Amino acid sequence: MSGVGGRLVSFEGIEGCGKSTQIGMLAEYLISQGLTVTVTREPGATRLGLELRKLLLDPVHDPDALTELLLYLADRREHVRRIIGPALQRGEIVLVDRYIDSTWAYQGYAGRDPELGTGLVEELNRRVVGECRPQLTFVLDCPARLGLERARRRNRETGEAGIADRFEQRRMAFHERVRQAFLELARREPGRFRVVDAERPATEIFHDIRREFLADYAVS
Ligand code: TYD
Repeated sequence: MSGVGGRLVSFEGIEGCGKSTQIGMLAEYLISQGLTVTVTREPGATRLGLELRKLLLDPVHDPDALTELLLYLADRREHVRRIIGPALQRGEIVLVDRYIDSTWAYQGYAGRDPELGTGLVEELNRRVVGECRPQLTFVLDCPARLGLERARRRNRETGEAGIADRFEQRRMAFHERVRQAFLELARREPGRFRVVDAERPATEIFHDIRREFLADYAVS
């Protein structure tokens, strides 16, 4: 990362693809190797961000596409300024659960308003994150049906049954489109992206993620 010491690694994919499990496993492994790791996520990693997250995921509010985009970007700006930027300055490895590519996929590529477009998302993302761009991005790829099933099961287990957020209420087709968006990004930027088959058991997925992370880390 130019001018900054640490490494920023983002994890992307549709709901229920298993990002948080993999982030937990990688963090634990890196810490066991003596590295300093910050684990964070979007939306909602800062105090202001947590308020924005509540607003974004509450089906009561129904912002238009541009308002929704700006709220995610506001969350990101605060996140970069208060958490990601400082951690990178300290030379840490930052693992982030969703980042710039989620906005590209959800609000840009698969978004409700075609006029918004991916170009605007790219421009605003650039402005919002500055130098804090990920060196490495894992896309955990699985079919929408499987991801949504897992997400529902997780919500039941955590007692959140019935509080399906706005996104999980959306049609399967939307989530398939989001999946395609991540795959499209990976085709565009093969140097940064690693697509991992997330239909497999967590330990197998982790095996690939660790290998790819270490290969990338070794050349950095
Ligand atoms: P969350 O409960 O964190 O879901 P997950 O475990 O799948 O990450 O909810 C985050 C939701 O916000 C998710 O549906 C994706 C959406 N999102 C966007 O639409 N745009 C964005 O820029 C980000 C960061 C998230």
